[in-house]
Amino acid sequence: MHFTSALCLLLGSSAGVLADPILTSFPNSLALPSSFDPIKEAYWTGLPHHRRTPFAVSPDGKSAYLAYLDAAYASVIVQQVDLTTFEAVGTAYETTGYEAAGLVAHNDGFALMVTIHATGSTNLPPTGDYVTAIIRVTNGVESWRTPVNGPGVHPNTMLTATTDANGDLVYSETAGLYGAYFVVTGYTGDASGHFGDSIQYVNTKGALQTITGASSDFGCSHNTGIGLEAADAAPFASICAEDQGDIWLNTETQYMSGVKIANENTTNGCSGEPMGGMSGSYSNLALFPDTTKYIFAWQSRGALDLTENAWLGTPYTQCSPRWLNHNVAIATMSDKNTLTGAEASSTVGAHNGDGQVNWITYSTTEDHQNVHVATLNPNLALVTWETLTNFDCQPVPLGCSGTYAGTSFQFVDSTGAKVGSPTSSTSFFVSGDIANVGTNKVCWPYVDMTWDLSQPLASGTPVSKMSFACASSGDSTAGTASSPSSSSSSPSSPSSSSSPSPPSPTPSTSSSSSSSSSSVVSSTGAGAVTSLRTHHHVASRTFQTITIPTAPVAASRANEYGTCVW
Ligand SMILES: *[C@@H]1O[C@H](CO)[C@@H](O)[C@H](O)[C@H]1NC(C)=O
Repeated sequence: MHFTSALCLLLGSSAGVLADPILTSFPNSLALPSSFDPIKEAYWTGLPHHRRTPFAVSPDGKSAYLAYLDAAYASVIVQQVDLTTFEAVGTAYETTGYEAAGLVAHNDGFALMVTIHATGSTNLPPTGDYVTAIIRVTNGVESWRTPVNGPGVHPNTMLTATTDANGDLVYSETAGLYGAYFVVTGYTGDASGHFGDSIQYVNTKGALQTITGASSDFGCSHNTGIGLEAADAAPFASICAEDQGDIWLNTETQYMSGVKIANENTTNGCSGEPMGGMSGSYSNLALFPDTTKYIFAWQSRGALDLTENAWLGTPYTQCSPRWLNHNVAIATMSDKNTLTGAEASSTVGAHNGDGQVNWITYSTTEDHQNVHVATLNPNLALVTWETLTNFDCQPVPLGCSGTYAGTSFQFVDSTGAKVGSPTSSTSFFVSGDIANVGTNKVCWPYVDMTWDLSQPLASGTPVSKMSFACASSGDSTAGTASSPSSSSSSPSSPSSSSSPSPPSPTPSTSSSSSSSSSSVVSSTGAGAVTSLRTHHHVASRTFQTITIPTAPVAASRANEYGTCVW
């Protein structure tokens, strides 16, 4: 434990060597214009998740914004935040909306990803479903809003709606594009009634762009875990977790194919919560500034005993979990398409299905969840997770309940090697996007409350204040000065149990995945139709019945998904 209060920040700032993360906090600094419910119940289990509060800092470092859903669940508010005091600046922007799903800060305002009701009178989504929209606000005034699904968006392939806004919004100044990656439900065409995801691009004038090889109307099945980060050109770097057993770096394919990052135990209708599940899918894929390198962090149950995925066929595999609890895993990329380490194994019959994973934790006695990562400079990233002791993890691949024991912060370099030791806090957690603030420092929002993960909870006690915490290396030259290791990312030594052995190489995975994906990347005409028929064909099997665990609130939610697989 190296928790320091804001007053102690100076102690670390003169250190010449790279320190462990130095944590500071600003409890209840921001008075909210209206109250906020800090809890969103998880899909299926009904366990409490932090309700995401998107947070972003402008490129010039001068303005920051916090977005949140009002406690009445019908309006989204964006409040400017002072980056020294973390107090409110000026009058908040407010719009009718149902989830704050992403935020990009600009020097003259912000762009917000939000769910709204579709407008118009034809081709509307089924009652209760929303659409996802990007709203650009310039100097306090809305300059455009562009729905990225719903009526009129890719009507020739299918129309999709947004049941839950799991996803993220990013922006590339170089490309002049916003990229949005979000979970969707089809409501017309072959995908009708099925859950997948969509990647859409919008230019700086608010015009939806259909970019062949980058835009996607319907991709990974039952994705509840999205990673998205900007690149200098479309396609942006993207990762999906689907319900068939894999996590994919799918930048090139936009589909459940590409470069296989990990095997994960799943069940039909449920990809688990590798990127946090409900209200997650943020700050889990980050670009090291001024490089082409990325880092991805997720919560993994490990993978054992690969079997062929009989539904999708070779090279798709399924696996059993190594543990029922989760550990913290990272993967590093040399560019938006390329892992620095090996792909996950696709060898049917292999016992070890997770030998490629770079483990940050490797515990059998703690559950680690709410995993996030952010980069501080070209060679330094911060990985964070929550620890649960006395965990209760069900075989169903979802979250665990337990005794919340604190949030940890660990530096890693751009090769994925640990730097120093973790710093922990029981005073705060991460419940919103982690953003760069100044030099070698990142900050994020949290709610000053007792965090209880012992049982299902559908909502929290509304709060009227937001808090912020920061992690810094305490050295303005740290990280940038250290020379990157010449070796590629090597798995860190697990602190317990035996070391996982490397999987056998699986060259066939990427080649066949790429070719199968080539029919999917075209978002126009025949290509997309072909891919949908493929979905439809495989979807015609008899689906397994999904067993719903205890929580009654969760049961109604699970039905919403569980009756439909893909
Ligand atoms: C997940 O693991 C369980 C326990 O080993 C296994 O029964 C189940 O078949 C696995 N799921 C898949 C999709 O392979």
